[in-house]
Amino acid sequence: MKVVKVGLLGLGTVGGGTVNVLTKNAQDISRRSGCEIVVSSASARDITRPRICNTDTLHLTTDSQEIINDPDVQIVVELMGGIEPAKSLILEALSKGKHVVTANKALIANHGNELFVAAAENKVTLAYEAAIAGGIPIVKAMREGLSANSIEWLAGIINGTGNFILTEMFEKGSVFSDVLKEAQELGYAEADPEYDVEGIDAAHKLCILASLAFGMPLNFERVYTEGISTVTPLDIAYADELGYRVKHLGVARKTKMGVEMRVHPTLIPEKRLIANVDGVMNAVVVKGNAVGPTLYYGAGAGAEATASAVIADIIDICRDLDTPAVNAVPALGFATSGLEELPI
Ligand code: NDP
Ligand code: HSE
Repeated sequence: MKVVKVGLLGLGTVGGGTVNVLTKNAQDISRRSGCEIVVSSASARDITRPRICNTDTLHLTTDSQEIINDPDVQIVVELMGGIEPAKSLILEALSKGKHVVTANKALIANHGNELFVAAAENKVTLAYEAAIAGGIPIVKAMREGLSANSIEWLAGIINGTGNFILTEMFEKGSVFSDVLKEAQELGYAEADPEYDVEGIDAAHKLCILASLAFGMPLNFERVYTEGISTVTPLDIAYADELGYRVKHLGVARKTKMGVEMRVHPTLIPEKRLIANVDGVMNAVVVKGNAVGPTLYYGAGAGAEATASAVIADIIDICRDLDTPAVNAVPALGFATSGLEELPI
């Protein structure tokens, strides 16, 4: 069987989860990919720190460049987060003809237009399933399952940390800062948790989803962004009294003036499906003009759930190593802050 060597840039929550899932599901993964996928090396800032995965067979390094320069590494998986050095390392890997998988929504949302062009120029794949909604295969659903549709709108809970906090505040009356700390300990939160609680992470994801749905360039600056940091236990209690749940939603929809993109806390009638998506779970409703509304639900963050999406991308690349798909993101969009009820 063909051996495919993978190098990981970053061995934290998602990197460690990726090694663990590749190990425990090795048989199924090689049957489906037609390859033996071997993580040969991984980089981290401090390679003496304990890891959530076994590192015995890995070459660990603090120098990510070593992985990019290794001619045996065919797939580079970027799981370090942030813009630099992740962006430069990905561009260099692409220029060396390596396929890249990333979970880095901040990078894709802000620099994806440039990165996808570089991938296309080098005839390699840049895959990013794990960048949106953790383990939910929403990118594959949009690119493959819904590809016959014109998308009218999409809406969903796309930040696990925020939903975890709102759920705990609702169910247990917990204090915001205590729940945030718990989300960090569980590995759900971003390195800078402001990204979760101020809606920035959801805005990154929404702008990627909108570009997929409406065939427009990534346009993060155009997303109206409001987080959950101002939601109080009293707001949640009043909403409950009136028969509503407070959820943080991302919404993108076609309007006569273009594509509207917004993330903000929303009152949702308690009987709606999406009002009952709790904890770290995410859910995205996508309305196609042929299929009607479709719903995608699953864990929005966490080591193995996110690894599931990372590895699905690795398997896709292995299946088609000689003729990779190119993830182009064309066209135009803009955002407004208008609020309107959607049938979710
Ligand atoms: P972690 O902070 O747990 O892991 C980051 C890893 O990258 C660590 O191993 C860290 O080293 C390493 N790293 C950071 N900077 C450098 C550098 N300059 N050189 C070498 N190594 C570096 O983050 P996560 O695993 O949680 O997240 C990784 C990516 O996945 C992010 O883009 C995040 O947004 C995304 N993501 C995360 C999800 C989650 O549930 N956590 C879900 C979906 C996406 P060290 O360990 O030594 O500090
Ligand atoms: N911090 C992110 C979240 C990780 O909580 O949703 C998954 O993208």
